[in-house]
Amino acid sequence: MFVDAQALPAPDPRGFPSWGGPTERLRFLLAYAVLAPSRHNTQPWWFEVRGDEVGLHADGARALPEVDPDGRELVMACGAALANLRLAAAHFGHATSAEIIGTHRRDGLVARVRLEEHRALSPEDEELFQAIPRRRTNRLPLDGREPPEGLVTRLLREARAEGAWLRPVEAHQRRAVAELVAEGDRRQWANPRFRAELAGWIHPSGSGRRDGMPAYAVGMSDAAARLQPLVARLSNPARAEAERDRRRTLASKALLVLSTAHDGLAEWMVAGIALQRILLRATAAGLTVAYFNQPVEQDGLRGPLREAVGDPGMPQLLLRLGYGPEVRPTPRRTVDEVLRRLDAVPVRPAPLVLRRAPPVSPMVQPAAAGAAVAPGAPA
Ligand SMILES: Cc1cc2nc3c(=O)[nH]c(=O)nc-3n(C[C@H](O)[C@H](O)[C@H](O)COP(=O)(O)O)c2cc1C
Repeated sequence: MFVDAQALPAPDPRGFPSWGGPTERLRFLLAYAVLAPSRHNTQPWWFEVRGDEVGLHADGARALPEVDPDGRELVMACGAALANLRLAAAHFGHATSAEIIGTHRRDGLVARVRLEEHRALSPEDEELFQAIPRRRTNRLPLDGREPPEGLVTRLLREARAEGAWLRPVEAHQRRAVAELVAEGDRRQWANPRFRAELAGWIHPSGSGRRDGMPAYAVGMSDAAARLQPLVARLSNPARAEAERDRRRTLASKALLVLSTAHDGLAEWMVAGIALQRILLRATAAGLTVAYFNQPVEQDGLRGPLREAVGDPGMPQLLLRLGYGPEVRPTPRRTVDEVLRRLDAVPVRPAPLVLRRAPPVSPMVQPAAAGAAVAPGAPA
């Protein structure tokens, strides 16, 4: 398989420091956390390891004010990183306890994870762990095969177990959803600040940057990527983008809406965890996922999307699932770049508010008031 020079190679599991203490182990496990997806590949996270505990922080300096003004997708990316971290800990024989911080904090702390004693790994979670380095966002056209029925049901269960909800877009809802995607495109692309923000995160394939999207990942030549900032200033491709995405949405064999009961920090984390487990399960089954998030990213279109698919909750993401060609991995910053503190001294005697996770899903007990529940479940 092709490995890009800038792409961070998947960690070699043989490097796990079984000789070391929890601090060294957590440091190693972070190499899996950073393989999580994030909008524009901003990798909006940083970490602090103290003894057997790691703090996961949302990095506000990597926010995307145009496409994600509330930081909703930013927090979801942190949720995806948390899911990876816990799966990796499980693979290497550790249970974890996790606390989701459901309130905004100045230091951006969104979750704490504590490494516990040994745990028996479930085959289900091992399958997800093995998929972490193979997962990719695939924006290329898919072949026409339908995803297997059983897989979609499994993904719905995966989301539900995390406190989120995945809902297939039915055939009769598809046209309305495609129109909302197209309308989202028209609104986003008409905004020069949106175009400039996106152009700032696309770079030529050999640029050496370890964040953002290399030209190949968005189906662009290097020359086009170099011209992007200029093109973004001078031209508005809204109509072409809207038409292309409308057609692609209609042609997608499986469209899925990921939603939560409410809309807040804890729910965004839960949505990110559910997203990552869905992506990994799909990857393990040989399928690929891409996003049609335009209607969820526009305030005025989220409600209509909700109505179009009869969703009682808050839509968080619109996903396309199918079979596609292999795509190259995107780069990642190294663990050293995102680890701001590594301290062998544990934080104790701080009060132990972490909750132990059950041996299998649900992985996280949100600690905050207003914790996520599956839509439709008693609040
Ligand atoms: C919350 C979230 C929202 C995303 N939204 C989009 C999107 O709307 N369009 C898109 O093409 N990619 C989207 N992505 C995918 C990222 O662009 C992708 O994860 C990133 O470029 C890294 O590439 P990789 O997923 O192949 O590792 C999203 C990812 C996350 C986590």
